[in-house]
Amino acid sequence: MDTPSHRGLFVVFEGLDRSGKSTQSARLVRNLKDQGHQVRHISFPDRTTPIGQMINSYLKGQSQQEDHVIHLLFSANRWEAAESISHDIASGTTIVCDRYYYSGCVYSAAKENPSLSLEWARRPEEGLPRPDVCLFLDISPEKAAERGGFGHERYEQSEMQKRVRELFLRLRSSPDENDFVTVDAGQPADVVEKEVLQIVVKTRESIDAHRSSLRSV
Ligand code: TMP
Ligand code: MG
Repeated sequence: MDTPSHRGLFVVFEGLDRSGKSTQSARLVRNLKDQGHQVRHISFPDRTTPIGQMINSYLKGQSQQEDHVIHLLFSANRWEAAESISHDIASGTTIVCDRYYYSGCVYSAAKENPSLSLEWARRPEEGLPRPDVCLFLDISPEKAAERGGFGHERYEQSEMQKRVRELFLRLRSSPDENDFVTVDAGQPADVVEKEVLQIVVKTRESIDAHRSSLRSV
C-alpha cells in the first residue's frame, strides 16, 4: 500500500499498433488499484492539449507536417506533461502510460528521412522523467494485422509497422534503454497480464530495496 513517503512507479507500455497496449495497461491499472495503490493512467500522444490536437489532425491525415516538426510536436506533448508526472510520482501515485519517448524515436526514425536518425530523434527527449520499467509488448507485424486489421491513421500500414518493430528491437539493445523488458504479446491476454504484473511487482521491490529515486532520460 502506498504512503506519501513511498514514491509511485512510472510504468510505460510500448509496442506496435494492435500489440495489446490498451488492454494490458487497463488490466494493470485495475490490478494495482486492487492491491491498494493510487494509479493514474495516461497515454501519449495526449490529444487533449493544443499541441495534441495538432498531432491528432496530422495522424488523421487532415494536416501535413514536416517530419522533424511533427517529431518535435510529439516530444513537446511529453514535455508539457513532464512536471505533472514527476509530481504525481513524488506524492505516491503510480503512473501507467501507453507509449512514451520510445515510440517517439522509432516511429519518426521509421520514416527513413536521412536527416532523422534514431539518435537524432532521441535528443529532444533527454531530461524527461525516466520510466522505472518499459514493458515492450512484442508481436510480429503479421500477427498484429490479424487482430481485426489496422485502422486508418497514418503509420497503420504493414511496411511502416515492420520498420517500427526493427527499430524497437534496435533501441532495446542500446545500453541507454536498460529499463526495457520484452513480453511476448502473442500469448493469450491472461498470460500477458500475469507476466506484466509479475514484472511490475519485481520493479516495485527493487525500487523499494534501493530507495531509488526517479531518474531522467
Ligand atoms: P496511438 O495509436 O497509441 O494513439 O498512437 C498514435 C500514433 O502515433 C501511433 O501510430 C504511434 C505514433 N506516435 C509517434 O509517431 N510518436 C510518438 O511520440 C508517439 C507517442 C506516438
Ligand atoms: Mg494506434
